[in-house]
Amino acid sequence: MMRLPLLLLAMLAGIPVATASPLLLQPQVLDLGQVREGDVAKGSLILRNDGPVPLSITGVQTSCGCTTGVPDQRLLPPGGFTLLHVRVDTFAKRGKIRKQVWVTDDQGHTAAAVLHLTVRPGRHMRMAGRSLFEARCAACHAAPAAGQHEGAKIYAAVCAMCHGADARGAYAPSLRGRHDAAALARRIGDGTGSHYMPGFAKRRGGPLDAAQLRALSQWLASLH
Ligand code: HEC
Ligand code: HEC
Repeated sequence: MMRLPLLLLAMLAGIPVATASPLLLQPQVLDLGQVREGDVAKGSLILRNDGPVPLSITGVQTSCGCTTGVPDQRLLPPGGFTLLHVRVDTFAKRGKIRKQVWVTDDQGHTAAAVLHLTVRPGRHMRMAGRSLFEARCAACHAAPAAGQHEGAKIYAAVCAMCHGADARGAYAPSLRGRHDAAALARRIGDGTGSHYMPGFAKRRGGPLDAAQLRALSQWLASLH
């Protein structure tokens, strides 16, 4: 008899009573299947309010600007649900890709899900006139290098997301065991000739000046 009024009071006061978050994103892992590079991979997640008070969706974030999530509705009544439509722009991707999506509400809850997809080569991508440094990608793939002078920091800002936190390889190959700093600087500055690894030098439209390229290459060459 005592517990119910207390619970009600807590709910009315907006104090979270349940330990589990009432904001749910389902499934937590969604496979978007196979797509050809350049196409948009699409899918839908269910966004659910499992709690007793209305929730308002205040934000949808993703790990990469190539991925977006748009809910059909922002206001979720108790027990209500809506669809979150997710899209992944597959430019410059190949093989198995993993992306994360987070949704937050006005009560401070967060729900997360992971998207998987497999990207097959698209023949005309090199001529697509697109680049990793174009406006909506540059915020994360170029701008974070600005003002960084130490090799390790430049690496963490614009390389680690593809080559792995410790340069041991992730989406892109390991960069360990290369001890010719000058050769590295040329490769990083000019790129590999593919749109997967564009030239990062300013003269190629990238974010790095000559001093940054030198510091970055010397640091990489020193790794074992
Ligand atoms: C909000 C920051 C951000 C923006 C904006 C952004 N990216 Fe990314 N990108 C990342 C991060 C972080 C990763 C590492 C993988 C991950 O966590 O999603 C990544 C990884 C990648 C990869 C490696 C393969 C993969 O998907 O894991 C490619 C290719 C890529 N991004 C392309 C793009 C393109 C093209 C754009 C512009 C349309 C873009 N990114 C915009 C942050 C960003
Ligand atoms: C969007 C993902 C992505 C980012 C960001 C990226 N790379 Fe790469 N990089 C690749 C891929 C993929 C390759 C493999 C070659 C190819 O496909 O053209 C590669 C190749 C390379 C190579 C040549 C390796 C070889 O075998 O010759 C070097 C060196 C390199 N990257 C260094 C860097 C450095 C340093 C940075 C940061 C300034 C960086 N990369 C940022 C994706 C990326």
